[in-house]
Amino acid sequence: MPTIADQIKEKIDIVEFISAYVPLRKAGRSFVGFCPFHPNSRTPAFNVFPDTQSFHCFGCKASGTVFDFLMRREGLEFKDALEQLARRAGVQLHERTAAEEQQDQQRTRLLDINAAAAAFFRHMLVKSQRGEAARAYVAKRRIDEATSEAFLLGYAPDDWGLLLSYLTDRRGFAPDDVEAAGLAIKHETRGYYDRFRNRLMFPIRNMKGETIAFGGRALGDIQPKYMNSPQTPLFDKGKVLYGLDLARDAIRLADATVIVEGYVDVIIAHQYGFRNVVAPLGTALTADHVALVKKLAHTVYLALDADLAGTRATLKGLQAFQEQPEGELVAVASPQGVIGFQRRQDVAIKILTLPAGKDPDEVIQEDAEQWRAALAAARPAMDFYIDALTADLDLSSGRGKADAVERLAPLLAQIANPVEQAHYIQTLARLIDIEERYILAALGNEARQPAGQHAAAIRRSDAKPSRQALPGQASEVQSAGPVQEEYLLCWIIRYPAVRAAVEEKVHRDLAAYPALQALMSGTIDELFVRDESRALWRAWIVAPAGMSPEEWVVNLGAPLDSFAQRVLALHVPQAQAYRLINDALECATILQRGAATRWRTHIARLQADAPEGVDVEMLLEQLVQIKQFIDTLSTPRRSSAYTDLHALHTS
Ligand code: UTP
Ligand code: MN
Repeated sequence: MPTIADQIKEKIDIVEFISAYVPLRKAGRSFVGFCPFHPNSRTPAFNVFPDTQSFHCFGCKASGTVFDFLMRREGLEFKDALEQLARRAGVQLHERTAAEEQQDQQRTRLLDINAAAAAFFRHMLVKSQRGEAARAYVAKRRIDEATSEAFLLGYAPDDWGLLLSYLTDRRGFAPDDVEAAGLAIKHETRGYYDRFRNRLMFPIRNMKGETIAFGGRALGDIQPKYMNSPQTPLFDKGKVLYGLDLARDAIRLADATVIVEGYVDVIIAHQYGFRNVVAPLGTALTADHVALVKKLAHTVYLALDADLAGTRATLKGLQAFQEQPEGELVAVASPQGVIGFQRRQDVAIKILTLPAGKDPDEVIQEDAEQWRAALAAARPAMDFYIDALTADLDLSSGRGKADAVERLAPLLAQIANPVEQAHYIQTLARLIDIEERYILAALGNEARQPAGQHAAAIRRSDAKPSRQALPGQASEVQSAGPVQEEYLLCWIIRYPAVRAAVEEKVHRDLAAYPALQALMSGTIDELFVRDESRALWRAWIVAPAGMSPEEWVVNLGAPLDSFAQRVLALHVPQAQAYRLINDALECATILQRGAATRWRTHIARLQADAPEGVDVEMLLEQLVQIKQFIDTLSTPRRSSAYTDLHALHTS
C-alpha cells in the first residue's frame, strides 16, 4: 500500500522540483548540478535520478527523495515538508479537524500581525519624527543602513497605544489577536496597551524568514535592558536562534556555526562579513538549538562571556550538546579490555575566548582581525572544561587533585577516540602532577557504566517480538519490504542496545568497501525505503536523552504520531532479548541488501551511458564492490543464532 508520501511523490517530478533550487543539466539518464548541501563549485557531483525520483551527491553523500531534499534545504520538519508537498501535489492530507483549521488560521493571523508590526516599527525608525533618538542610537552602535535593513530593525515609539491603534483601526486586526501575538497586554480595567514602548526593535525570524516574535532594547539605561515577546503559538524562545534565517547559507558554506550571546553581536558580525553567526535569545542553549545547527554544519564555535556567569552558561550550553543522542557510534576499548560502543560527537565544539568583559560586538568593531584571530585560536571544548572545572581548586593539595579527577573523569570517559582520550588524560595528569594510572583507575569506574547500561537495557527487556509476526516468508526475505522497516524501527527505538548493535553492524559492513563510501553512509537512516520511516527515525534520534518512547510519541504530533504508535505496538513482549538483537540484525541485513540493490541499479545505469566527465573506472569499481557487499551481506555472521532464525522464518 503506498504511503501518503508515496502518493505525493507520484505527482511531483523531482527534476522539476529540484531545478527550482539548483540549476541542473541533463547528463545521460540523470541530471547533474552543484550540490546545495556542501561547498563546491568545481565538479558538479550532485545527481538527480528521474528513474527512481531520487537525488545523490557523490561529494557529500546527501541523498534521498524530494522529502529529504526539501527538509534539508529549508530546514523543515517532516510534517511541514509533507504539508508543503501535499499542497503542491494537490493531495488531500487528511480531513482537517475544526480545531486544526482554527489553529492554522490563528497562526496565519499572528504571522500577519507580526509582519504588519515589523513594518510599522521599521517605518517609525526610518521615517518618523518620533524615531529621532532611536536613529541616533542605531548610529551610535555603528549599525549601517544595509545591515539595519537586512535585520529589519525598527522602533517602538514611546506610546501606550500607537501600535495597537495602527493594527486594529488601520489594519483591522482584533485586539485579542494582537495580544495573542504578544504585542499588546490586557489590563484588567483599562483595556489593551502596547507591550513594547520606546525600544529599538529586533524582529525574530524563523528559518523560513517569518517574523515570529520581537526583541526590544531599551534606548537608555532602562530595566529590563532587553525584552522579548512572550511565548505564543508562534514563538518558543528555546527553539529559535536569532539570525539563523540570514546565517543559514553561510553556515553551510563554512561548515561552522558561531554562537554568540546578543542580538547586537549577531548584527555587527554580519555587518563585518561574518555571516555564520547566530545567538540564542537570552537563554542557555537547549537541545533544540543544538539540533538546529547540527543539521547545517559540523563545527560549532561558542563565543560566550569570559566572566564566571558566562563560563557557567557555556558549560550549560555544552551540556545541551552532550545530551544530544545523535552521533556516529564507534567501538572503543575500555580499560578492562571490553569493547564497548560510544557515540562520537558529530559536531566538534570549540570555545572562543574573548578579552574579559568584551562582547563580540566590541571586539569586531575594534578590529575585525582580532575576531578572526579569536576564531582561529578557539579551543576544543575539552581543553576548556579542564580549565573551567579546575579554576577554583588548589591543585597543589591532595583534596584539589582528587576533586579535579572526580570532576573530569566522567568527561574524559566520554571521549570516544582513544588517541584523543590518551591526550587529555596526559594533559590532566601533568596539570595536577600525578601519574596517569590514577586517572585511568578513576576512568575505569566511569567506563564500566555504559557497558553496564547496555546490559541492563537488555536485561530489562525480557522481551521479544512474537515469532510468527516476524516478516518471514522466504520470498519476502529477499526484498526489503516496509514490514521489516517497521519492525526494525520498533526495536531500535525501544532498545538502546539493539540500536547500538544495528548501528555498529551497518557501519562495520560498509567499512570494508571504500568505493561504496561515496554512495552510502553506513547509517541506519539509509536502510529505510519509506519517507515516513526515515522521518520517524530522525525524530527519535533528536528526542531528548532518556525520554521513553511512550512519552515521545505523545509529543510527536500528527502525522508521525499515529505511525509511531503503530510501529511501537508491533512489539510483543516474550522470550529473551539476545534473540531480539539477532532478529534486528537480520532485519537490518535485509534492508541493507535492499539499499545496496537500489544502488547497483543506479550505478549500472550511470555506467551504461556515462556522460562525459564521469569517472567510468570508479563506477565499475563501485559495481564490483556493491556485488561483493551484497554477497557478504547474505552470509550470516552469527551462525548459531541465524540458524534458528531461518528455521523460524519458514515455519
Ligand atoms: P547582554 O546584557 O550581554 O547585552 O545580553 P548585549 O547583548 O551586550 O546588549 P548590548 O550590547 O548592551 O545592547 C545578552 C543577551 O541576553 C538577552 C538578550 O538576548 C541579549 O542580547 N537579554 C539581556 C535579555 O533577554 N534581557 C535582558 O534584560 C538582558
Ligand atoms: Mn553588547
